Amino acid sequence: MRPGRLRRIAGVAAAACLSAGAAGSASGADDASGSRALAGMSPKSLYLLRCSGCHRPDGQGAISAGVPPFAGFMGPLTRDPMGRTYVTHVPGIAGSGLSNAQVAEVLNYVLEDLSAEGPEGRRPFSEAEVARLRAQSIPDVVAYRRGVVARLAKQGVPAVAYPWP
Ligand code: HEC
Repeated sequence: MRPGRLRRIAGVAAAACLSAGAAGSASGADDASGSRALAGMSPKSLYLLRCSGCHRPDGQGAISAGVPPFAGFMGPLTRDPMGRTYVTHVPGIAGSGLSNAQVAEVLNYVLEDLSAEGPEGRRPFSEAEVARLRAQSIPDVVAYRRGVVARLAKQGVPAVAYPWP
């Protein structure tokens, strides 16, 4: 990996810490205090508060900052078992302080409203599935994404633009 890439990844990681810290929690899976503060919020509000800073309110992301768009790729990702594991381990979720139920809700919001998938292409998450997937250990999420992208490419699914191969 070139130093330029490392610096950008470090920048995104710092931004993730800042946004998680600002909301009072920087820890990982199913953080009870963080999720209590957000209790009762709609999935859309959770998204706007915890995700839209990087992914934008419309889910377009920002290619130059390494944030891929949801439209066109979220559907294929969530129809693949490895892809489902991957999306529950992205840094924005790992550092979000959201409970498993909230992660299921916010991912289902992304699928329904921002993925450009029709109802037949959506495979929603349950709290129980999120709990099971988050319990798996994924030490390097960028490398894991690469594996998922290669797997989907074999099925003829092109990856969305993403600056880190
Ligand atoms: C600090 C910026 C940031 C925040 C906040 C953030 N994300 Fe992300 N997200 C990223 C980046 C960067 C990626 C690309 C994967 C990577 O580099 O790890 C990503 C990838 C994803 C992906 C997989 C898309 C793909 O094509 O790889 C999903 C799904 C996702 N994020 C959902 C969320 C949700 C839901 C939230 C809010 C709870 C959230 N993210 C918060 C930066 C962020």
